[in-house]
Amino acid sequence: MQPGFHHKGFTVWFTGLSGAGKSTVSQTLEWRLRSLGARVEVLDGDVVRTHLSKGLGFSKEDRDTNIKRIGFVCRLLSQNGVVAIAAAISPYRETRDHVRSQIEHFVEVYARCPLETLVERDVKGLYKKALAGEIKEFTGVSDPYEEPLAPEVILDTHLETPEQSVEKIWAKLQKLGLINQEDRIQETEVRRPELRV
Ligand code: ADX
Repeated sequence: MQPGFHHKGFTVWFTGLSGAGKSTVSQTLEWRLRSLGARVEVLDGDVVRTHLSKGLGFSKEDRDTNIKRIGFVCRLLSQNGVVAIAAAISPYRETRDHVRSQIEHFVEVYARCPLETLVERDVKGLYKKALAGEIKEFTGVSDPYEEPLAPEVILDTHLETPEQSVEKIWAKLQKLGLINQEDRIQETEVRRPELRV
């Protein structure tokens, strides 16, 4: 750890529609923390579904299983002093609240973005398919997304850069006493390598 930087174990839980920026912002946050020597692990829905949640689909039951598994790992990590960052759609409020209840330091971050913007961008080409009826149960199109009622942080990812979004999260983490960064090691030591996609 860089001298002058300290952190507790905690979980940053990103929720939001596909393409809203959860992965990008979570990686930007990850590298800002790593550059200060923090112990960090990211659990990204797209990646987790190739390992821990392999074989699960997108029914409510399967999504809940996926989220509870991610939550379980986040709990293990954060209670051992690691910063766990989860980036999964996690569309159901009750399931997110269940995970929250299991984790001592839980910071919910809503990556908010208008559906029209997501459909326009359509980075993975999934919205086009979902709108054409080729993908069933697609979140935001033909499957529900329940917005958080009281997230710790709201990001408006269509209006902010990933760095600005991370800044909001950073301020909240400091305010909650989960990270502690002495003034003398501000920004100059923060470096982020190319994003891993
Ligand atoms: S969650 O609902 O269980 O939290 P998760 O974040 O793991 O979802 O996976 C979402 C990713 O799976 C999307 O970003 C997209 O790439 C892909 N995907 C495939 N089918 C669907 C679908 N029906 N609804 C949402 N995402 C889907």
